[in-house]
This record gives sequence, structure tokens and C-alpha cells, in this order.
Amino acid sequence: MLVNKPPMGWNTWNTFGHEISDALVRESTDAFVEQGLKDAGYQYVVIDDCWSKKVRDPETDRLVAEPAKFPEGMKAVADYVHGKGLKFGMYSCAGQRTCGDYPGSFDHEFLDAETFASWGVDFLKYDFCYKPVGVDGQLLYRRMGMALRASGRDILFSACNWGSDDVWSWIRSTGAHMYRSTGDIFDNPESYRKIALSQLHKLGTSAPQCFNDVDMLTVGMYGKGLVGTTGCNDADYRSQFALWCMYSAPLMLGCDIRRMNAQTRALVTNRDLIRIDQDAEARPPIATFHPWNEKLMTLFKHLDDGSYALGFFNLGEEDAETFATFSDFGLPAAAGYDLALESVFDGERLVSREYLRLNVPAHDCRVYIARLQKR
Ligand code: GLA
Repeated sequence: MLVNKPPMGWNTWNTFGHEISDALVRESTDAFVEQGLKDAGYQYVVIDDCWSKKVRDPETDRLVAEPAKFPEGMKAVADYVHGKGLKFGMYSCAGQRTCGDYPGSFDHEFLDAETFASWGVDFLKYDFCYKPVGVDGQLLYRRMGMALRASGRDILFSACNWGSDDVWSWIRSTGAHMYRSTGDIFDNPESYRKIALSQLHKLGTSAPQCFNDVDMLTVGMYGKGLVGTTGCNDADYRSQFALWCMYSAPLMLGCDIRRMNAQTRALVTNRDLIRIDQDAEARPPIATFHPWNEKLMTLFKHLDDGSYALGFFNLGEEDAETFATFSDFGLPAAAGYDLALESVFDGERLVSREYLRLNVPAHDCRVYIARLQKR
């Protein structure tokens, strides 16, 4: 299975937790299309934890969808999602129980992969709770990687061991297509900033076929739902979304997509930001920090058509003036080129020589597509 671009979709967990149902997934699938997410490139509708009965079928040992939540079973949900031209994702866990205390796939990997394949599943998120003590976590991801390949269906393998055991150094070898690299996100500014900063120096191994997953987005949650906490403002959501795009991270939405407001819809379907995220080369950005204000970060990323993405992030609580010196990116003054910039948010254009100095409000960002311009 080829996963050349960071996967894009929506996942039930951030907003709904265990309060999931056939109706919710079908309504969200409708909204996925009506809100323009499909047209913008999103593909996967993913049901996270808490979808199954509390015990396996005593006769077949298989996982069974909880009939009170999914009365027609999972194949019917998969068929509905496929009927809208989308792909269907589900969740299991490498340990004996899932994080929400439902049966996990430990020692049932091949049987479960076969069950998922028979339902028409296209994506499996694979969590890490209740791993038996003394069992090697890496081995469990190898097992599910093999089980999915043996299942006879192309199933994207989304590993989720929260960055344990230096996951970046071995995960690609298991066949996984993306890997969670951090603990869970919460909908507050400290959470997305901490996650983003923690991966800045670990992006070198994130690449086509196996992407660093900095967790599902909280964009558009405004404090509502399971991981809601204090919520974020629109400036934070701009920054969070732009950071994920500068990282070429998977874009898995976590808000209630049936009720996105206009700002959220515009942000998550922003063509330039998605183009940056989905760039064919998926190169990590070059990061620089303001010399005396460490909250001001600049990211510069090579894009495959010869242009660049340039983002200025204010991760602090005060509005501030920041700057970037282009020689830090490999463009010294003597090179004879300026940078022609176009804002991804409002189309503002400017040309800058050697450096750029600009104001960025607290929590906010400025992001440009940049092109070399001969003097
Ligand atoms: C873990 C994962 C989350 C979510 C929950 C479900 O915490 O990291 O993303 O899947 O389990 O219980």
C-alpha cells in the first residue's frame, strides 16, 4: 500500500470519546462531504475507541460491534462511508484491553485484522494501553503490521504508542504508515505548543510511507467535547493547523464537523496550507528562534515546485515583533535574490531583501509561500 502523502480525515475521539453511534458517524460522513472536506482532500472517517462489546464473541473469539451503538454492525457503517466516496477507519489496541477498557488485539492480531478486512476497513489506529508487562512493544507493532498485510485488504496502519521506546527509530520497519509521537493532545494552547516543540528535532525520519503523527487536531473545538479543557482562540487554531502543515503531519480533524463555523471551515480547507502539508517531498522545516524571545519561532520549508513555505509563530502571550534572516535558510545577501512572499491567509504580497521583520500577535502566526526573485 502506498501512502505518499500525510493522511487526512476526521476521528471521533477528541469530541465524542465513548459517545459514538451509527447515527453520529453517518451524520458526520454527510457533513464531511457537505462542508467541503472531501473536496479539500480529506479522505478518512475514523471511529476511535469504545465501539465494541466489552467482551469478544465467546464462540468465534472475534470482536463484535456494540449493538446499542452500532445496531447494523460495522460493515453497514463502512458501506455508508464508502458510498460517499470516502474511506473508513477503525481502532484497536496492542494490549489486552483498549485505553477505554474494551477488548484489545493482543494475541488476536491476525484474527482481528481479518475481521477488519471483512468489514471493509481501510485504516487502523493501533493504541498501546494494557500491554502485558515484559512483552516488547515493538514486537506488537510488527505483529499487527504483518497481520494487516496478510488480511488481503489495503489497510493503512496508524501506530499509536505515544512516542514510547524511541518509536521514530524503528516504526518504519513494522510497515506502519504513520506513528503517534507524543502523548494525547488537549484543546488548550500549552498542549499543541508542547507537542509541536517536542517533535521539531525529530522530523527527519518523517517521510512518505510513514509520517510523524502529532495527534488529532483540536481546531474548531473551542473547549467543547472530551479533550476540550480551556479551549483555544482562532489565532491558536491558525497556529496549530499551520504547524501541523509545516511538519507534513497527518491532518486528522477532531472537532464536531457537523457544526464547524465559517472560520474553522475556511482554515481546515485552506488550499495553500493543505498544499504545504501534502507537498510530495514532505521535507522537515528549518527552525530558527528569535535571539532573545524563545517564544518566537520561524519555520522555512522546501516545497517540491521550487517554492518555499515560510511561517512565523508567536507561541507566547504577548504581541511581538519578530524577524527572519534569510541567510539562516541558505540565502545569503550576496546571492542576488530577494524573496517574493504571498500570505496563505489573505493573499497579501511583499518582496523582502535579506531579512523580514514583522509583527505577530500573541498566539498567532503569519505564513507565506515564498519564491526566489532575481534582483
Ligand atoms: C489513547 C490515545 C487517544 C485515544 C484514546 C482512546 O489515549 O492516545 O488518541 O485513542 O486512547 O481511549
